Amino acid sequence: MALYSEKVMDHFRNPRNVGVIEDADGIGEVGNARCGDIMKMYLKIEDDIIKDVKFETFGCASAIASSSMATELIKGKPVREAMSLTNKAVAEALDGLPAYKMHCSVLAEEAIQSALEDYEKRRGKGE
Ligand code: FES
Repeated sequence: MALYSEKVMDHFRNPRNVGVIEDADGIGEVGNARCGDIMKMYLKIEDDIIKDVKFETFGCASAIASSSMATELIKGKPVREAMSLTNKAVAEALDGLPAYKMHCSVLAEEAIQSALEDYEKRRGKGE
């Protein structure tokens, strides 16, 4: 059996939503101390909807595929739905990850959570 699913390979080779949002409403950056991989998420939010999301990932193939899939899963969704995105859902959407690569999908969940927290913080200040 192949180590990685077709979907993982597709999102690794052609990652969706790579880049930076200059005027982002929320930015989250997380890392994994063990492997040293880093993931940064940018959110553009309007009327409580994730209008746009971009990411930069300096990491392994699974981390890149996980960030790409995670952005696809939250794009156009209400903030509340994005908040409840789990790494398990990301891994499932990728048709699975090897057990020792599950932490890569955790990074995607954490990066989105962190960007949403930043958004909430900024909003709290602005109002
Ligand atoms: Fe660390 Fe994949 S090996 S995020």
